[in-house]
Amino acid sequence: MLAQIKDLAANLAPRLIEIRRHIHAHPELSGQEYQTAAYVAGVLSSLGLHVREDVGKTGVVAELDGEGKDGRLLAIRTDMDALPIVERTHLAYASHQTGVMHACGHDVHTTVGLGTAMVLSQLGIKLPGTVRLLFQPAEEIGQGASWMVQDKAMENVSAILGVHVFPSIQAGSIGVRYGALTAAADDVELTIIGESGHAARPHEAVDAIWIAAQVITTLQQAISRTTNSLRPLVLTFGQISGGRAPNAIADQVRLVGTARSLDPETSANLPAWIEKIVKGICDSYGARYELNYRRKLPSVQNDPGLTQLVETCAREAWGNSRVQVLPEPSLGAEDFSMYLEHAPGTMFRLGVGQSEKPNYPLHHPQFVVDESAIVIGVVTLAYAAYKYWSSF
Ligand code: NI
Repeated sequence: MLAQIKDLAANLAPRLIEIRRHIHAHPELSGQEYQTAAYVAGVLSSLGLHVREDVGKTGVVAELDGEGKDGRLLAIRTDMDALPIVERTHLAYASHQTGVMHACGHDVHTTVGLGTAMVLSQLGIKLPGTVRLLFQPAEEIGQGASWMVQDKAMENVSAILGVHVFPSIQAGSIGVRYGALTAAADDVELTIIGESGHAARPHEAVDAIWIAAQVITTLQQAISRTTNSLRPLVLTFGQISGGRAPNAIADQVRLVGTARSLDPETSANLPAWIEKIVKGICDSYGARYELNYRRKLPSVQNDPGLTQLVETCAREAWGNSRVQVLPEPSLGAEDFSMYLEHAPGTMFRLGVGQSEKPNYPLHHPQFVVDESAIVIGVVTLAYAAYKYWSSF
């Protein structure tokens, strides 16, 4: 069966590259994937699959019916949205939409999802149970997966597989990871409220800028002195604003940032830990504060059995030298974790690195992929879907 899957995928390669280039040239921002969704639905309908549009706002769901002998339902998730980045790749099929770019490889993911649907529907056999393909919107804003779940995309799902491109792995190889793949990401919004006054007489005022500086410095130092160094924690304030005039003491400073952590205990304790430090500093100098800590995305925790399934399939398909068991997680975030609240799953990394040219990171305006990775992704997912029914 593996040889048949590989043949089908290899024959589809030119068509898949054409699809990927079309999607790449027509990127759409999170929540606005109207054309992409219509295009995806068109391809899926041409395969004779049951297609539902407008799932999770602009998402698409298609099902490949199995024989019905096995009640388990396997979901495969890909994402479709692009980023607000001005593309600078100078590719012939570069973005036609100035300021919008597929710089995170979601064009590749969507194509891999479509390719998997094509291969599975052309296999000439019915799998014992149903495969549901989820094409989700709005991953970049961390919301699309929740929208899909609200629209019952995870109903009856027993397991879910996902894929993300990775430029630091060469095309032709894949990476799997047991346990944590990405971090929990929470939003932190903090306002320091002081008292305005004349810049020349700071003792008569409460300087919110100076207090904000202390809060930032103390929080960063406290990470190294009061939290367990073996449990990663990153706190970044990416936005700061405050003050009205160079010769007046600022009465308010607003800090907005993100907190990343891997283990649930660190994540659980974070709001209280931040507040204790902020309160201590503000109390010392007569300032007040408003802290708004919002849980956003949990960590992606890959299921061991399903990770083993993908690893085994990839080793059979590509050989041991082209499968990496990744030693480290990423402190990036991925809303694939929202599906994992409903069923076990695993996400693997698809190498898209080019052998000679420079490999720019994800979200870079010159990010380019080696398109030979598309077939690797399709075969790995299609074979894993085939083997899933006999693997447990
Ligand atoms: Ni991405």
